[in-house]
Amino acid sequence: MQKLIVNGGKKLSGEIHIQGAKNAALPIMAASVLCGGEVILRNCPRISDVYSAMRILTYLGCKAGFEDKNVAVINSENISAEGISDELMREMRSSLFFLGAVLGRTGHCRITLPGGCDLGPRPIDMHLSALRKMGVTIREEFGTLDCTAENGLHGAKIDLSFPSVGTTENIILAAVTAEGSTIIRNAAREPEITDLAEFLNACGAKISGADCGEIIIRGVEKLHGCQYTVMPDRIVCATYLACTAAAGGDIVVSGCRPSDIEIILAVFEQMGCIVHTGHDKIYFSANRPLKAVAPIRTMVYPGFPTDAQAVVMAPLCRAKGTSVFVENIFENRFKHVGELCRMGADILVEGKVAVIEGVNRLYGAKTCAADLRGGAGLVAAALSAEGVSEISDIHYIDRGYEEIEKALSSLGADIIRI
Ligand code: EPU
Repeated sequence: MQKLIVNGGKKLSGEIHIQGAKNAALPIMAASVLCGGEVILRNCPRISDVYSAMRILTYLGCKAGFEDKNVAVINSENISAEGISDELMREMRSSLFFLGAVLGRTGHCRITLPGGCDLGPRPIDMHLSALRKMGVTIREEFGTLDCTAENGLHGAKIDLSFPSVGTTENIILAAVTAEGSTIIRNAAREPEITDLAEFLNACGAKISGADCGEIIIRGVEKLHGCQYTVMPDRIVCATYLACTAAAGGDIVVSGCRPSDIEIILAVFEQMGCIVHTGHDKIYFSANRPLKAVAPIRTMVYPGFPTDAQAVVMAPLCRAKGTSVFVENIFENRFKHVGELCRMGADILVEGKVAVIEGVNRLYGAKTCAADLRGGAGLVAAALSAEGVSEISDIHYIDRGYEEIEKALSSLGADIIRI
């Protein structure tokens, strides 16, 4: 079992390049099933969820692997399996994207319920009801969903009751080669959805409106392969900024898109950090003491992202005054709080609200990651703590961060993996 050992209290400095976005790469990898040819994905992060997606692609009969450091090559000329094994489905939530993609390619797909970080109930009812509207019959037997579009997939008008990211992406995947047009109203507007649409358009799809909440997908007969560069990861970017806010220091973040995280940058500015942005760079400086911030409510994009809640909470543990988070997206996304309290943080959780009273110091402690972003939040807190912290169960962190210890060491942090 691997652990991170962090000797806190070192200021960070230097430049860090941001990896490609997990939540863009995963649906794009599933989308490559629809292409029936070769896809070359640049800026594809080497994280464990991407390796899980490669295992699913291989199981389906495609070829998938890294050719160069961050260049993934996927060839989907052949598809031999009609579904995905339970073991692979359980590896991550994003296994569900393959449902829309395989249905679009073959008209049939058998899956079980997806796994992923436990953030409270994560139903898939919206995914299934949208697919039913597009002509899919779903039979549920002994935990297996047998999904068939007997007469092929057809376009539909789909009104989402909530702008779910995964549902919007699954509908897009099923719709690109369906007969006729599909309109998704109240669609999610996260930048990763635009990235998926741009990738598919580069493969010959006809998708418009991916950033405006009403997406129109005109079905085409077939797609082809392409070369594509995955967008930078906005949550990884926010994480390294949060680490610097927590530890203090000056860093330059390159290869990022500041426009995707304006709302997070505004929170760092409220804390007293200095933020200057260029086209794909952020110049960031943090000096103690930090200040508490106005209540943060997690929302769908362009609101404050739930994925940044845990990492932004870390520097606020030592900010002067009281900060409040209201978690509106997931029911159980405060599992890092108990671990932060082991380090001396003063946080009260009541339902979906967390109240943080800033304390003067955090101290090193043995902690345990319980999900991906919560684990990254513990790393940020450990960097600002006095003494040595241990973070175990870091396989959660490895799902989304490329060698987090190397990235932070390059900024001067004292962090090792054992
Ligand atoms: N929901 C339903 N029914 C559904 C689908 C969703 O009730 O059929 C609910 C969920 O239970 C949740 C809310 O809708 O309460 C939002 O879920 P959404 O579908 O938008 O999220 P997701 O697609 O499961 C993606 C990201 C998450 C990110 C959320 C919200 C990927 C691979 N995952 O999940 O990323 O938190 O959107 O922005 O894109 C992470 O990277 O750590 C992560 C968890």
